[in-house]
This record gives sequence, C-alpha cells and structure tokens, in this order.
Amino acid sequence: MKTSLEKITKSTKINSEALALSGYKAKKSTKKKITLSGMLAEVNKDLKGLIAETIEEENFEFAAGSSILIKLNSLVKLPPKYKGLKKIIVFGLGEDQKDDTNDLRKSVASMIRKANAAKIEKLIVHYPAAPELVAETAILVSYEFTKYKTKKDDSKKSQKKLLELKVLVDEMSAGAKKVFKNAQIIAEATCQARDLVWEPACVVNPSYLADEARKIKAPGSSKSIKVTVKEAAECKRLGMGAFLAVARGSDQPPKFIEITYKPTGKIKKHIALVGKGVTFDSGGLSLKPSKAMEMMKEDMSGSAAIIGIMNAISKIQPSGVEITAIIAATENMPNGKAYKPGDVITAMNGKTIEVNNTDAEGRLTLADAVYYASKKNPDEIIDFATLTGACMVALGNICAGLMGNDQELIDRIKNSAERQGELMWQLPLYEEYKKSLKSSIADYINAGSKGKAGAQNGGLFVGEFIGKQKGSEKSIPWAHIDIAGPCWYDQDMDWSPKGASGMPVRTILDYVLSH
Ligand code: BES
Ligand code: ZN
Ligand code: ZN
Repeated sequence: MKTSLEKITKSTKINSEALALSGYKAKKSTKKKITLSGMLAEVNKDLKGLIAETIEEENFEFAAGSSILIKLNSLVKLPPKYKGLKKIIVFGLGEDQKDDTNDLRKSVASMIRKANAAKIEKLIVHYPAAPELVAETAILVSYEFTKYKTKKDDSKKSQKKLLELKVLVDEMSAGAKKVFKNAQIIAEATCQARDLVWEPACVVNPSYLADEARKIKAPGSSKSIKVTVKEAAECKRLGMGAFLAVARGSDQPPKFIEITYKPTGKIKKHIALVGKGVTFDSGGLSLKPSKAMEMMKEDMSGSAAIIGIMNAISKIQPSGVEITAIIAATENMPNGKAYKPGDVITAMNGKTIEVNNTDAEGRLTLADAVYYASKKNPDEIIDFATLTGACMVALGNICAGLMGNDQELIDRIKNSAERQGELMWQLPLYEEYKKSLKSSIADYINAGSKGKAGAQNGGLFVGEFIGKQKGSEKSIPWAHIDIAGPCWYDQDMDWSPKGASGMPVRTILDYVLSH
C-alpha cells in the first residue's frame, strides 16, 4: 500500500475517490447534540450540510469503532477542490481516546474495513492526532494471503482493495515524516512475517528461511547488516548436538541463521533475539496426531518474526542498539535417521539431555541457539517461540506467555506489548519446577513435566542454556515469549485478519526502537 503524509494548506485538493473524517462522541454529561468541528465542519459546509443531515438521519453518535459511508451522487454539487470525490466515511472515536492508541487502532481498523468493503482504492484520511497509526492500521487490517487462490472469482476488479492512502494533518512537526514512514515499515514487517507463516511447509523450509534472511540488506553503502548461514557440518563442529539431533530426521538440511545489525556511532546496548524456526513439526517419532499436526507449518512463527524485525531494522537503522538475531532452522521429521525417545544428546554448552519426547524439539533447537547467542555477550536475550500447547491451554490463542529471569526486562517488554496492543501475560518460572527437568541418565530430560505447568517447563528448560554475563556468575537477562497460541488467530481480530498474526514483530520493534 502506498501511504503519504501531507499538511493541509489552502490549496490542498481532496481529489481522491474517498475521504474519511473522524469525530468524538459528545460527553454524556453535556447532553449536547453533536456539533461538528474541524475539518468535518468545513467539509460539511462545503457540501451544504449533507454530512450533518446524514449523521442526524442515521442517528450516528461517533461511538468508537462505528462509521457511516456517505455516497455523493451526481446531484451533489461539489466545489472544485473535491474533484473526483465520490464517497465520504465518517468514523467515530468514542468519548475521548486521545490516550488510548489501541482504541484508536480499533476505530481506524473498522473504518478501513468499511473502505475495503466499499472497494475504495484511493483514500484520504484526516487524522491529525496520530497519522502514523492510520497508516499502520490500514496496512495491518487490509492484509490478506491470496497467493494460492487461482479463482480470481468475481474477476480481479471486484477484489479491489485499498492501494493508496493519504493522511492529512493540520500541523506537521519536525519528526512526523519519519515516524510516519517507520510506522509503514513496521506494519510491512509484520505482514512479511505473516506471509512466511501462511506459506506452507512445502515452500518454507530451512533453506527458504536462509534465503529470506540473505535478502535483508541495509540501504545504500551501509554495511550495518550481516547475514551468515551455517550448514550442519559447521554446527557439528560447534557442538550443537541438540539442534542437530532434531534436524537428523528430516531430508531437508538444517540452517543456522545469524543476522546482525551494528549501527554507526556509540552502542548503548546489544540485544540478542532468537526465534524458533521449526518449519514443520510432525512431532518426529513421538508423532503428533493428525489434528495436532495440521497447523504445524506455523512452528516457524518465531523465525518469521525475526526476519520481519530485521528487515525493518535494516530500513530504520536505529542508533545506539546492536542486534544479533538467531534462527536455528530445521524440520522435525521421523525418517530412519531420526532421533529417538531415550536418546541422550549433548548440547553446545556441554550439558547432556535425555530425549523422552521428540515432539519437545523446540526447546532443543533453542538450547543451542540461546547458548550460541550468549557467546556473543549480549546485554540481554529475548526468544520467541511456538513452544508449548500448554501455553495455549493456559492463556488461549490470542495471548502469548511471557517468562524470563529478569523482571525489569520482562516489564519493559510488557510495556511495549501494551503499547502495540499485542496481548502478553506473564507466567512465573518457579524454581521448584526445575525438579522436572532432571533426568535419571543425563543432566536434563526434554519433556519431564508430565502435563503439568508445561509452558513453564519449556521456559525453564530454555533458561538453563542462557549463558553467563561476561566475567560474572550472573545469567544474562533473558525473556521468553511463548507464541504457540497467538501466532495464528482463529478469527478476525481488531486490526489483524484471521490467520497468521505476525506476533511479536511490533512489540519487539517497539522495544528495540525505544532505546
Ligand atoms: N510446536 C509445538 C507446540 C505448539 C502446539 C505450537 C500447538 C503451536 C500450536 C511443540 O514443539 C510441541 O510439540 N510441544 C509439546 C511439548 C510436550 C511434548 C512436552 C506440546 O506442547 O505438546
Ligand atoms: Zn513439537
Ligand atoms: Zn514445535
């Protein structure tokens, strides 16, 4: 979608097919009838009171999320600056939403849905308070994955979707253009992650992820982004026995992908990001039942987020933060070479693991990935992974489980998630439950919790492989986001269509960019 930001001047032309204008609901206490103000009042005047008339007729009250479409038929005489204007959408912002960006996102999303339903291709929106939210929401809510639909049913024409969005503001502050552009980059990064999750596992395999990573390039001559892909042999040399054990049962070669970003100038913080990249999880020899396997292409959602995030980072080029992003990409399959229940494997940190369940593969791939990341001496590590069905049992499928060893880091991620309207709820990591990580034959067992506190068990296991801070006995601050539920929405959400959500791209970018 093409988006642009423009300051209104006397000569601004409303020369698009549709115009969207917003207004607040009258406070209950005032009992006042709606009075139009700002641009809504001006346009109403230019249209000889048509907007006020329609609003009254339809009893439209500017409730949050409500909107009406006014069609301008040929009888309406338009002043020349509105040449080409055919539709006006008036949308409500509720009583006063200035503080709640998520309510605003909801209102904008429902307005954009109306525009899409009306097959509007070019839309001008006047929303001065937060124009970037309009662009971001428009891109997020207009998303669809239609690549494999051959039936362009009612011909391409009838599938018109919003293609061009112009947001008008009354004043333009110095940084406004950049904020607006970044919002578009972030929304597109989310959509890229969604695309990767939607793509079936016959397309998205470890090599495909590696290729997607290699495509990430910083603009111009900047060498700030580096992508390296390690093959199985090199992973073996590095001792990644846990990751490689999972990879053994697949005919697809595993890829250990590392994307780094280094800004010019002083580095205040080095953040490591790790995304689970199991491109298909059959369960391995501990085979999943058919129903549970159906959606297992989504088991690379964490790595899809990594690719979206690093793509955005390569374009935004934030200063002050260095990022190391890791994906240990593999399939989990049950061929003749597959790892077996009862096997004992050795992780990169030298610890041994008894594999009692080959379907608890994510934590094995992450064990080597987070340990490898630790060796880069980051100030903190954040992993996101479709790790446990148990997390879905605990929190349902719209909310991620947030865990870790550092409350401050968790709180900061929680704040970013709240700002972005991505639902995350903290789960504890009780020391007492570490008992269930113990094996009778090795240092650890990969699925020892026997159906209790499964999300924590996965988190605790990964936590064991977080390295120490340089020159200290203290663990590197680490947060773990279990996205098994919300990586895929089973129904339309406020500004996310049903399907791949792109979570937690926006939260993590918010977090990284707030440094
Ligand atoms: N990829 C699954 C978790 C999952 C389930 C993701 C549903 C998305 C939707 C993971 O590898 C897995 O199979 N976990 C097991 C762990 C168990 C064997 C300890 C699970 O949750 O059942
Ligand atoms: Zn599994
Ligand atoms: Zn899995």
